[in-house]
Amino acid sequence: MPETVVANDDFKRIVDTSDEWISTRTGISTRHFSSEPTWRMGAKAAKAALEQGKIDPEEIDLIIGTTITNDYATPSMACLVQGAVGAKNARAFDIGAACSGFVYAMDLASRLLADGEIRKVMVVSAERLSKITDFSRRESCVLFGDGAAACIVEKGDSPAYSYLKSDGTQGGMLYAHNPDRGANPFVPEFSLEGEFPEPESHAVQMDGKEVYKFSTRAMPEAVSEVCRKAGISPEELDWIIPHQANIRIMATAAKALGISMERIAANISRVGNTSSASIPICMDEMNRAGRLLPGQWVCLVGFGAGATYGAVLLRW
Ligand code: ACO
Repeated sequence: MPETVVANDDFKRIVDTSDEWISTRTGISTRHFSSEPTWRMGAKAAKAALEQGKIDPEEIDLIIGTTITNDYATPSMACLVQGAVGAKNARAFDIGAACSGFVYAMDLASRLLADGEIRKVMVVSAERLSKITDFSRRESCVLFGDGAAACIVEKGDSPAYSYLKSDGTQGGMLYAHNPDRGANPFVPEFSLEGEFPEPESHAVQMDGKEVYKFSTRAMPEAVSEVCRKAGISPEELDWIIPHQANIRIMATAAKALGISMERIAANISRVGNTSSASIPICMDEMNRAGRLLPGQWVCLVGFGAGATYGAVLLRW
């Protein structure tokens, strides 16, 4: 996590808000902000993961990057991280699945590991959401934070299950424009008519109520369906580690699944919403705290722009 910590009360200096509104509506008290490039945050997380696992960078066969805040249109964040950590035997690329990125990447990693040629995959999820936050909009600026995490995955004895979905008709609910890259002298000016509004801004545009409705449907569906694939019921899960968007979303989904909030891992109060980095940051905290024990059923569930959503079920 970046060092700069910003509390809800600090936002009173820039927008008309209060700690009471933010904490009761979202469960967020503080978030971290970075002044570093996204890829550098990702590289730090990758180095920490390699050290924690005592793994030589040259053993990594593949790096999958997940980010909606890459510093460059190209190269990918994954390639920049590869160069920084010296994973010279890896192939590297980013995927674009917004806040579901980590879950999508874990599913992909698992499928590629099954093939046999790739033995170690590093998933790097890094987000500097403050780069695409409009700090004059109180309804969204209080939600987001910056952060990064990395996870090294190899083939184990127990199977992993996944359930991934997208609904491309819901793109307008949550989006951000890319910067305009300049005019082409050979064609008429590009028109965004009929497309998503506010192309002059690169900030996240969000219909909060629609996101709320979508996510409280998506989360129970993904968890129930992945459990069905594994032949267990959601009550048998030891932990759900959800995307940290809003504590009320997590509570509503937990209720729909008939699961106590005690089994929902949540660190949103301290870190806010860090998009695709939120699940692995929370998973790392749980792991370091010794709360994830061998044999436990751990379900990772994400939802985000696209719309994308899905769950991965692991036997820890
Ligand atoms: N401080 C004080 N007042 C605020 C703030 C704020 N930061 N933001 C909005 N308000 C006001 C609104 O202007 C409105 O005032 P009005 O009644 O005078 O018009 C009032 O609070 C209520 O606003 P609502 O939008 O109805 O508030 P709601 O209870 O729906 O909560 C929220 C808004 C928190 C954004 C909620 O809809 C939500 O969490 N949605 C999910 C969005 C989300 O998680 N996005 C994350 C990115 S997406 C992702 O990660 C997948």
